[in-house]
Amino acid sequence: MATKKGGSFRVGDRIGRLAMLLSVAMNLVLLFRLHKGGIFADEAPLQRRPEELALRTCPVEMEAERREGTEKLPPPPRSVAENAVINLDHGDPTVFESFWKQTGEKGTVVIPGWRTMSYFSDAAALCWFLEPEFAAEVRRLHRLVGNAVSGDGRHVVVGTGSTQLFQAALYALSDGGDARDPPASVVSAAPYYSSYPAVTDYLRSGLFRWAGDAHAFKGESYIELVCSPNNPDGSIREAVLSSEAGKTIHDLAYYWPQYTPITDRADHEIMLFTVSKSTGHAGTRIGWALVKDREVARKMVKFIELNTIGVSKDSQLRAAKLLKVVSDGYELERADEHTDRLFDFGRRIMAARWERLREVVKASGIFSLPEFPDGFCEFTKERTGIYPAFAWLKSEKAEIEDLESYLRSQKILTRSGKHFGAGSNYVRVSMLDRDETFDLFLNRLSSLR
Ligand SMILES: Cc1ncc(COP(=O)(O)O)c(C=O)c1O
Repeated sequence: MATKKGGSFRVGDRIGRLAMLLSVAMNLVLLFRLHKGGIFADEAPLQRRPEELALRTCPVEMEAERREGTEKLPPPPRSVAENAVINLDHGDPTVFESFWKQTGEKGTVVIPGWRTMSYFSDAAALCWFLEPEFAAEVRRLHRLVGNAVSGDGRHVVVGTGSTQLFQAALYALSDGGDARDPPASVVSAAPYYSSYPAVTDYLRSGLFRWAGDAHAFKGESYIELVCSPNNPDGSIREAVLSSEAGKTIHDLAYYWPQYTPITDRADHEIMLFTVSKSTGHAGTRIGWALVKDREVARKMVKFIELNTIGVSKDSQLRAAKLLKVVSDGYELERADEHTDRLFDFGRRIMAARWERLREVVKASGIFSLPEFPDGFCEFTKERTGIYPAFAWLKSEKAEIEDLESYLRSQKILTRSGKHFGAGSNYVRVSMLDRDETFDLFLNRLSSLR
């Protein structure tokens, strides 16, 4: 018995040592990955200290060139340390959280266990994975806001964010030619959204290929991406190219009244929208396309079928509810105009932020910002300014050639102009973060001389 006991003790001892060794090895691997920037791969050059992590407010604007793997993030901070790193690299729309908090239970969705089990929403429909409730609320919201033609002649295609729809649109517009044809050239006027080149080229498709700045493009056949208001510089845009064989995709993610006056009902071949920037629910991962041509819509649906066999119904039901809350805020008699109107809330905050930012930038003597004309908004029926989701900040000092590095040295994380086809004397700064982050950003910026 004694030998047996001793034997089992030795076995247990060995298992204990092995477990300890394993745990040490795992910690070493983790430390190595942190050091190499594997966990925060998109900001690898920066050493992360605890106070930096405290302000890292959900970097989930999934821009392909900057993302790798999944990330486990700390909960959002309640207060922000004065010396914290301020991360305004991503356009994470947390500014809208306080609106949704004040709407209480109105936006809550409960999905019983038996619902949303089938792959299909309407097997007979062109977009067979589109939840009818979601499509109805999309059309209702466009009717209310007047920002896009969305009636019966337009096909609604739902996507996992407008990022998936952008790829579906590239597929639809470039598929169908001879397999020996060269890839379609994908262009956008610089400065363009930094995801466009990355998402176009990451699979090295034989169907389409990034071809850079639309202004520099020579040729008749192309797919032009038109983003209006534009990410990163907030400009209101139209296509810069024109030819019989050319095609366009209009990315209207920011064509909502909190950012810009709604001057007309957009009516293009393919228009992309997303809840990420309209209601602020980037994590729900829902976007939609309004498509004129049935065959193009059919091919986009085919892409999504091949890519993800449809789009989360749970997310569509949530998005439908959120869009409903937004429309109800304007259409229901019992709605409270002070608490229930998302676009009023958004415009108020964005206007105030832009006014404060402009003051600080003017006083600094270091930076400048683009100017925008006012316009008459058909939605609010008044003249309003343009308050973009990003500030396109320029260095006006010759000695600050690399503005991203300069701001990084001041613990302000932004995205360099070079990712947008522009110079490194520009950076893009998110205007959509929480109040405490934005306040700290202004404080920090005003201390620079
Ligand atoms: C112009 C533009 N289009 C599309 C997207 C991506 O939207 P989604 O979150 O729906 O994929 C963004 C996100 O920042 C954007 O700025």
